[in-house]
Amino acid sequence: MSQKHDQGLSREERHALLQSVADLSNPQERYRQLLADGGFMGDERMVYNLQPENTAFVLSNTDLFSSANGVMGLGNIRPLIPLNLDPPSHTKYRTLLNPLFSPGRMAEQRDDFAVRANALIDGFIDQGECNFTEDYAEIFPSSVFLGLLGLAEDKLNLFLGMRDGILHPERIDPEAVGGDEAVKRVRDATAHQIYEYFGELVDRRRVEPTDDIISRFIETEVDGYKLSRDDILDIMFLFVIAGLDTVSDSLTCFYAYLATHPDQQRTLVAVPEIIPSAVEELLRWETPVAIAFPRIATQDVELPGGQHVPKGCPVIVNLGASNLDPTLFDEPYEVRFDRPRNRHIAFGKGVHRCLGSHLARYELAVTLTEWHRRIPEYRLKPGHEDLNYKPGIRHVQDLMLSWPG
Ligand code: HEM
Repeated sequence: MSQKHDQGLSREERHALLQSVADLSNPQERYRQLLADGGFMGDERMVYNLQPENTAFVLSNTDLFSSANGVMGLGNIRPLIPLNLDPPSHTKYRTLLNPLFSPGRMAEQRDDFAVRANALIDGFIDQGECNFTEDYAEIFPSSVFLGLLGLAEDKLNLFLGMRDGILHPERIDPEAVGGDEAVKRVRDATAHQIYEYFGELVDRRRVEPTDDIISRFIETEVDGYKLSRDDILDIMFLFVIAGLDTVSDSLTCFYAYLATHPDQQRTLVAVPEIIPSAVEELLRWETPVAIAFPRIATQDVELPGGQHVPKGCPVIVNLGASNLDPTLFDEPYEVRFDRPRNRHIAFGKGVHRCLGSHLARYELAVTLTEWHRRIPEYRLKPGHEDLNYKPGIRHVQDLMLSWPG
């Protein structure tokens, strides 16, 4: 990859670029190579950047790089809140939402998360093996959400179906691959289901509030402003796509790493107090959400790296490369659970920094705590050592783990 920009990309170059960024199996080395080669590529139709200084600049300047880029073709009929908004309306929503996802609020859920984690582990511990992706990682975040919404466990399949209908339409209809009609059909039908289901739930909670997250959305008020029914639906739509897969995918990346690093497994067992800091380091190292959502240049802009971005051009920035920045991290290519002041940007940077970061941290830390208490030693199941990292958000399909009986 080169600093190439002005001439525009040939079809082959665009293909090579997409191939090189879609291969997520060994991203740290890949980012190193791409950075050595300039870390910037694009033309007037698209820019892909890995240079940390540019990434920080793009994510910090919402007046120059807008997130208000339409409805994204996920079946949603309005922009997602707060992801597809710019300040000042973005600020209004974050002011309302931040207190509901504060570290204190999320800490209140810790025991509930542990019960849910243990129930899943109960299901396979005696077998001495599991498909970690399917048996734990894909279920746990949805189960946690049911708890936050005050819904019973029998709604789990409904939730998993909503998530799949938008993010993995091929699981609903095998013909729904690529960008074709079948994908649109599945997404539109699922979106309709999301609006219907959560619409009814909002109506119910308005009449009979409980201690769940929807009731809190209804009650919360800042400077006389309250969330409307549509606001809540647009937030819930984003939660289904931003709050479920991200944690599942992070878990598979974490366990693929840990299963192949027995020394660090032993550290987590011997010194469980280190788990919160191990979570931060694994988030930095794996950066499961490797790229931010595209931003659109609102005017012609010169980046700190000297590159020119024309007005209207979508800009994709890579978060994983920033998390290997030697000016921010000592020995960035080493995974150190005791790394002090780990200022990674795996949750993004700037005003759109992840709303669910504290929720995600608790989900990840509770999993590591309960798992290592009960399954202190594990590895990749023999015969399943080749890990299949899928494109999109980084994750390992069918991560098979085994442990002594
Ligand atoms: C380990 C798991 C997670 C990771 C790695 C992650 C990562 C991210 C990243 C990188 C962004 C910024 C995107 C951008 O600027 O383009 C983001 C935004 C967001 N995330 Fe997460 N996320 C995780 C879990 C969650 C959870 C559990 C929730 C549920 C509440 C959530 C809700 C959101 C929302 C609502 C936004 C948009 C914030 C805004 O636009 O102001 N995320 N996340």
